[in-house]
Amino acid sequence: MTDTSRRNFLRGAALAGAGAAVGGRAMAQTPDPAITELPPWQQYLGEGVDAAPYGMPSQYEAHVVRRNVPWLTADATSSVNFTPLHELDGIITPNGLCFERHHGGVAEVDPAEYRLMINGLVDTPLVFDLQDLMRFPRENRIHFLECAANSGMEWRGAQLNGCQFTHGMIHNVMYTGVPLRLLLEEAGVKTAGTWLLAEGADASAMTRSIPMEKALDDCLVAFKMNGEMLRPEQGYPVRLVVPGWEGNMWVKWLRRIEVGDQPWHHREETSKYTDLFPDGQARRFTWEMDAKSVITNPSPQAPITHGPGRMVLSGVAWSGRGTIPRVDVTLDGGNSWVQARMSGPSFDKSMHRFYHEFDWDGRPLLLQSRAHDSTGYVQPTKDMLREIRGENSIYHNNGIQTWAVNEQGVAENVEVSS
Ligand code: MTE
Ligand code: CO
Repeated sequence: MTDTSRRNFLRGAALAGAGAAVGGRAMAQTPDPAITELPPWQQYLGEGVDAAPYGMPSQYEAHVVRRNVPWLTADATSSVNFTPLHELDGIITPNGLCFERHHGGVAEVDPAEYRLMINGLVDTPLVFDLQDLMRFPRENRIHFLECAANSGMEWRGAQLNGCQFTHGMIHNVMYTGVPLRLLLEEAGVKTAGTWLLAEGADASAMTRSIPMEKALDDCLVAFKMNGEMLRPEQGYPVRLVVPGWEGNMWVKWLRRIEVGDQPWHHREETSKYTDLFPDGQARRFTWEMDAKSVITNPSPQAPITHGPGRMVLSGVAWSGRGTIPRVDVTLDGGNSWVQARMSGPSFDKSMHRFYHEFDWDGRPLLLQSRAHDSTGYVQPTKDMLREIRGENSIYHNNGIQTWAVNEQGVAENVEVSS
């Protein structure tokens, strides 16, 4: 290769830009003003320290927000918004981006007037204020919270165009809190005490029955998320953490725990948050969130904009029954599967991050991911779920999600029959 032909080759690569299957691009022959000219931010001094006593993301990231679907609910006080999964990486959800689900709006609890009562079948009914709680030994744990209704709109077919809307009723944060077991031990649970009722201090007074085994196993009475006090939206100052179980049980603004000898069968565990079968029977108490995954990039809100060539596919997976040792991905709607690369810490009942790097030849793709959890369970297709549960369900849809990507890199929510 002569000198000039080599230069021509380099120029060709530069023109192909990031589309070529190379790392970066060959240096251009013509000046690039983004390199040769001084940008405004280098011509003047910037803001000093304390310009933002509580720091915020860059102004260029203003589109990275929770979003709701206005037609889903009649009123914002009993509604939901969604975590922008397609904008995130790693496994931790930043506090300001954690989806919100309220049944009676956000309770603005004054921490000085916060009280947690334990009553019912206990030796000594007790009341704790916030300081009392903070004098018990604490634990730090990372767990996902997924609403049972996550992906519920997708049960009968592809509907919402973006993983934020199809899968964004989930967040994954580090909680700091006191094991519920320690508080129950303090009150002394009577032998007959096999259930407890957790009650919230919001206008909806959310109440759920929880079996004592779970309460003693791994529930936390949490006051911090990702190191700082809970956000009001997430139950400030105290919420219940019920690892791996449906989000509805994670009572926010926790005000009371009653110990009893049977479940209460309140509204949120009967007419809501139960799964209706084709024969009209309802499945009672479906607490655990089964293994699930979704490709976050590319996806409808995060199309491929760089053309063919080097490509990073990414997504998240989780299981309410353990860890996620393995995720498979397919580029062709399930004809062939490859094992994705897991990256980041793997915690019990926490989100996991996976990647699959490949060269995109510019042809249409049918992308799917399939999670395997540490119990050996494999994420089913939506058809497999519907075969057993019919079409009446809303909750607990952990079926495999498909994105169709066209030659332009535009992605769409679709279903393929299996
Ligand atoms: N707790 C109270 N007190 N009130 C509520 O409306 N919503 C529940 C649960 N705990 C709720 C509550 C539901 S359905 C879910 S999915 C989770 O909180 C949502 O938690 P988040 O708002 O932190 O995402
Ligand atoms: Co919910």
